[in-house]
Amino acid sequence: MNGIALMVEEHVLIKRMLTVLRKASYKAILTSEVNYDDFAEMIDFVRSYADHHHHGKEEHFLFSEMVKHGGPAAEKLVNHGMMVEHDLGRLHMAELEKALLLHREGNAESVVDIVANAVSYTHLLHRHIDKEDQVVYPFAERALDKGLIESINTSCEAFEKEQEIKGVAQKYMAMVEKFESKYI
Ligand SMILES: [Fe+2]
Ligand SMILES: [Fe+2]
Repeated sequence: MNGIALMVEEHVLIKRMLTVLRKASYKAILTSEVNYDDFAEMIDFVRSYADHHHHGKEEHFLFSEMVKHGGPAAEKLVNHGMMVEHDLGRLHMAELEKALLLHREGNAESVVDIVANAVSYTHLLHRHIDKEDQVVYPFAERALDKGLIESINTSCEAFEKEQEIKGVAQKYMAMVEKFESKYI
């Protein structure tokens, strides 16, 4: 398995969900109604697929090797760039969840925070993914030797096997398709 190629592929599905998040936000503005169940599912996608399934592989298998073996430039790129952005994404999801709760309790103005956090997350992730596809992954492929790339691939393969048993990729692919036909 080529772990980096798989991560590039996963970016495509994540970007499709980013489009859904934006469309759902626009619908909330137009209708002044918030579909709490749909937003909860989108948060679940971000946390379980984009974060645990995808960022998990990046952080535990790829970025950790880049920091250890890629020199100071890789360390800076990962620790002061990619990891910070992963954390900022988590903050946007926590704030989105809070705003949804407030809105549900009758605070109509919280729609501003729902849209702000959902759309800010999409901006953040689009830029983050483009940086990884164009800069970070190619850097890793150049900086890490063949043996390290092989061990990253092996780790990814073992993790994917566990995730496959749980049906993670299929579940979230189906979720994206469902929301695309509803919101796009
Ligand atoms: Fe990332
Ligand atoms: Fe990524």
